[in-house]
Amino acid sequence: MKTYLVTGGAGFIGSNFVLYMLKEHDDIRIVNVDALTYAGNLENLSELEGNERHIFVQADIRDRAAMEALFAQYNPDYVVNFAAESHVDRSITDPGAFASTNVMGTVTLLDSARAAWAQDDGSGGFGEHRFLQVSTDEVYGTLEIGPSNADGSPADPATADFFRETTPLSPHSPYSASKASADFFVLAYGDTYGLPINVTRCSNNYGPFQFPEKLIPLMINNALAHKALPVYGDGLNVRDWLFVEDHCKAIDAVISRGRVGEVYNVGGHNERNNVFIVKKIVEEVSRAVGDEAIDERLITYVTDRAGHDRRYGIAPDKIRDELGWEPETRFEDGIVRTIEWYLAHSEWMEHVTSGAYQDYYERMYSGR
Ligand code: NAD
Ligand code: TYD
Repeated sequence: MKTYLVTGGAGFIGSNFVLYMLKEHDDIRIVNVDALTYAGNLENLSELEGNERHIFVQADIRDRAAMEALFAQYNPDYVVNFAAESHVDRSITDPGAFASTNVMGTVTLLDSARAAWAQDDGSGGFGEHRFLQVSTDEVYGTLEIGPSNADGSPADPATADFFRETTPLSPHSPYSASKASADFFVLAYGDTYGLPINVTRCSNNYGPFQFPEKLIPLMINNALAHKALPVYGDGLNVRDWLFVEDHCKAIDAVISRGRVGEVYNVGGHNERNNVFIVKKIVEEVSRAVGDEAIDERLITYVTDRAGHDRRYGIAPDKIRDELGWEPETRFEDGIVRTIEWYLAHSEWMEHVTSGAYQDYYERMYSGR
C-alpha cells in the first residue's frame, strides 16, 4: 500500500484529486494535510467519512515541526503539493500571504521530504519517492492574441504561439511570481540534492468544488441570483480551460510514469475568451433552470484587473507523447456537468458564500 501525502486536499483541485485517486486505486492511502483557510472545505470530502484510506490532518505546510512529524508518522512514498494561496485578485491586495505559503511553505515541505527520504546507505539517493509540485501555466507570463476565432481560440493552432516547458518563466502577478519562485526551489532541490521531483504546469481548471471567487463558479452563482456578471476590461482575455478530472489524471500519470526531474505542461488546446465563457454560462444556466430572466443583459464590464495577463495557451505535447495523457472532457460537456453539479449542490454554495465571502465580494467588486 503506497502512501500519498497530499497538501491542500480540502481545496478545489486537491479534493477532486483525493476523491479521484481513492476511487481509482484500491492499493493507496492518502494523508490529506490542509490548513483549512477560507478556500479549504471539509464538505468537499464528506463522502470519504469512515474511509480508512483517507487520513485528514489540519496543519499548515509552513509549520516545520508539524510537517516533520507527519513524515515520521506516515512515511509517505509520494508528496503532491497543492496547498497554496491561489487567487490572483487576492494576491494583488495581499502579496505577502502568497510569498509566505506558496514559497516558504513549499521550501518547508521540500526540506521535510529531503530529510525523511534520504537513504542511510551513503548513496546520497532518495529511493523510489516522488515530490510533485502542482504549478500553473501562469508562471510563463502572457502570450499575444493572434488572429482568433469568435470564442478567442487561435484561428490557426498550427501557427499560434504556446507555452512550452522550455519557455522562460516570466510571471506578472504576485500569485504567479510566488508560484514561479516555488517552481525554482523545487527544481533546485532536484538539481542540488537529487531529490526526485516533478513539476506540472496546468492551465485554468473548472469543475465541482471550485470556490466562487474564480470566474466560472462566480458567474454561475451570480447568474442564478440575477446579479450582475462582472467582466474585467474588454472581456477578451483568453484562458485554456481544462476539466478538473483531466488535471487529476495528468498528475496521476506523472507520479506513476513521469521521468524524474521533468516539468510537464498540462492543458487541452481549449482556449476561450472570458466573454465567450460568460455568455455560455448564461445560456446553459438559463436553460437548466428554465429562467429567461437570466440573459446577457446581466453582463457588466468593470475596471480591469491590474497587470491582467492577456492570453494563456499551453502546448501539452510532452505529456501526450511521453505519458499518453490527453484531455478527455470537451468544454461543451464539462461546463454542462459543472453547472449541473452546482445546481445539485446549492447548500454547498450557500455555506461557502455566507459570512466572509460577502465581505470579500463587497471589497473586490463594489464601485469597481
Ligand atoms: P484552492 O484555493 O481551491 O485550494 C487551496 C487549498 O490549500 C485550500 O484547501 C487551503 O485551505 C489550502 N492551504 C492554503 N494555504 C495553506 C497552508 N499554508 N498550509 C496548508 N494548506 C493550505 O486552490 P486550487 O484552485 O485547488 O489550486 C490548487 C493548486 O493548483 C495550487 O497550487 C494552484 O496554484 C494550482 N493550480 C490551480 C489552477 C486552477 O485553475 N485553479 C490551475 C493550475 C494550477
Ligand atoms: P480567474 O478565475 O481568477 O483565474 P486566473 O486569473 O487565474 O486565470 O479568472 C479567469 C479570467 O476571468 C481572468 O482573465 C480574469 C477574468 N475574471 C473576470 O472577468 N471577472 C471576474 O469576476 C473574475 C473572478 C475573473
